[in-house]
Amino acid sequence: MSVKKVIIDCDPGMDDSMAIVMACKSEALEVKAITTVNGNYPVDVTSKNALKVLELIGRTGIPVGKGMPEPMVRQSPKDPFTHGKDGQAENFLPDPVTPLCKKNAVELIIDTVKENPGEIYILCTAPMSNVAMAMKQAPEIKSMIAGIYAISGAFGLNKYAFANATGDTPQSEWNVYVDPEAAEIVYQSGVKLVALGLDVATHFDVNLTEEDIAMLEASEKPEAKFLLQAIRFVNGRGFETYCAVIDCMAVAYAIDPALVETIKGHVGIETHSKLTLGMTVLDRRHHHVWEDLPVIEIGVAVDCERFLKLLMQLVLA
Ligand code: BDR
Ligand code: CA
Repeated sequence: MSVKKVIIDCDPGMDDSMAIVMACKSEALEVKAITTVNGNYPVDVTSKNALKVLELIGRTGIPVGKGMPEPMVRQSPKDPFTHGKDGQAENFLPDPVTPLCKKNAVELIIDTVKENPGEIYILCTAPMSNVAMAMKQAPEIKSMIAGIYAISGAFGLNKYAFANATGDTPQSEWNVYVDPEAAEIVYQSGVKLVALGLDVATHFDVNLTEEDIAMLEASEKPEAKFLLQAIRFVNGRGFETYCAVIDCMAVAYAIDPALVETIKGHVGIETHSKLTLGMTVLDRRHHHVWEDLPVIEIGVAVDCERFLKLLMQLVLA
């Protein structure tokens, strides 16, 4: 099995935290760097939270680069969904002692890609501000990135896509909604992009079973306790369990791409309208297709059982 080298670009976030856990514990992935960004919380909080998770699982050797404090051109909105007072489902992990990397997130992305040309996959579980800025500052990296697997968009391909919309407009997904201009740069970059949107990442069948919960309860692993608290936290607020693990889908896809069925399509990002800001518009017409829109790969269906099995295996390992 060939090991994939990844950068996790994230805004922890309870589900980003679980994505970090999954990726770091998988033998199929080598986490070269973690980059943090404004999103679920300001970047100071998301950076601290990334370090806290790494300390929780004893993986402090992975560099964490702090990234963009704001979207590219607009002010950051406030998240309508809460990840709790600490941004980690009120797990209240101890303050980290590990320092941040001296390089900021954008520098860390650029250097890591250049040091590993053609080999780095960016798992983007947050607004795309860092990745877009890296592409602007060093356009030459675009041809050196192996792929971007992103929790990004809502494409209306099934009933989950808009019913579970996370952004603050009726048809938007949070990560695109926060920084639509950044998403536009990345979608148009020509880099192979797989968008795992709400169609696959907020599926009601991505809910742990009672048996899974019992296994988490029986485990001594701190990451199992973290996930349990996250589940209790979201359930306590009337949300389904999948909310605690949305971002894990990008990691699962990197490990096992057969988990998610994808289609190719022309996609544009709405960057102006008040009502649909951040919408990822997929042109599905047979005629008059807007050929100028970039073609990306979009997740349409997911094997939920297999996803949950992988998640549980890695959390309990
Ligand atoms: C995204 O929104 C955030 O709250 C989650 O961390 C996830 O990345 C899903 O729309
Ligand atoms: Ca996230």
